[in-house]
Amino acid sequence: MTRTPLVAGNWKMNHTPTQAAAWCDALRAELAADELPEGIELGVAPAFPALPRVAAEIERGLPLTLIAQNAHRELSGAFTGEVSVPMLLDVGCRRVILGHSERRQLFGETDALIARKVRTAVDNHLPPILCIGETEQEREAGRTEVVLEQQLQRGLAEVAPEALDDLVVAYEPVWAIGTGRVATSDQVAAAHAFVRATYAAIAGADRAAGLRILYGGSVKPGNAAELAAIGDVDGFLVGGASLEAESFLAIARAMARTAPS
Ligand code: PGA
Repeated sequence: MTRTPLVAGNWKMNHTPTQAAAWCDALRAELAADELPEGIELGVAPAFPALPRVAAEIERGLPLTLIAQNAHRELSGAFTGEVSVPMLLDVGCRRVILGHSERRQLFGETDALIARKVRTAVDNHLPPILCIGETEQEREAGRTEVVLEQQLQRGLAEVAPEALDDLVVAYEPVWAIGTGRVATSDQVAAAHAFVRATYAAIAGADRAAGLRILYGGSVKPGNAAELAAIGDVDGFLVGGASLEAESFLAIARAMARTAPS
């Protein structure tokens, strides 16, 4: 089964709407000078206030999938400061990142809460990018596979497998995020193969064969080609290196070179 590679930028709490518009201009200029090959999906996850600006650029033809960085578990209500799935859909989002390790670690999100959010997103046709990954301590204790299996099983516990056709999973070892310490090719290959096998047990072999599994954690233009060559790597979730359109695109080009033509 062919899996269209996805390279998604996660801007986190960076880029004002004005800066987001400048990023889109830079991306457009880069693409005009040197088109990206067909067969790869690009996505970007701006902070909430910048979503409409980027949505407008997409409407004008910029080839990007608009992604939200988070969403609330409920559809509406008295939740001051929160943003709902219908709001994200209305503004043009087509995917939502859920379970990012910063949400888990800094904002106390549990697997149970993430599972509720996954259900709300799936039920309302905003497919999630579910992030999973072990901490350094967990890896050193030999618990990487236990943690990945738990996060995947628990995160998907509230949705039926047949509703998951558009799911994307991002494997992001916590110790590699924002640290410059990228996982080795062997570590990434083993983790991705394990995630696919685990997903097969949850949703069946066919769905597992079609599941896109992204790697995230200090992906840069200099290491993207090596990571992209790993068979079970179907794209990247890129933080720091996505803030500049040029380096984001360099990573996407490295991934595109492995895309089935
Ligand atoms: P990084 O972040 O590329 O800056 O390591 C990745 C992520 O958090 O998705």
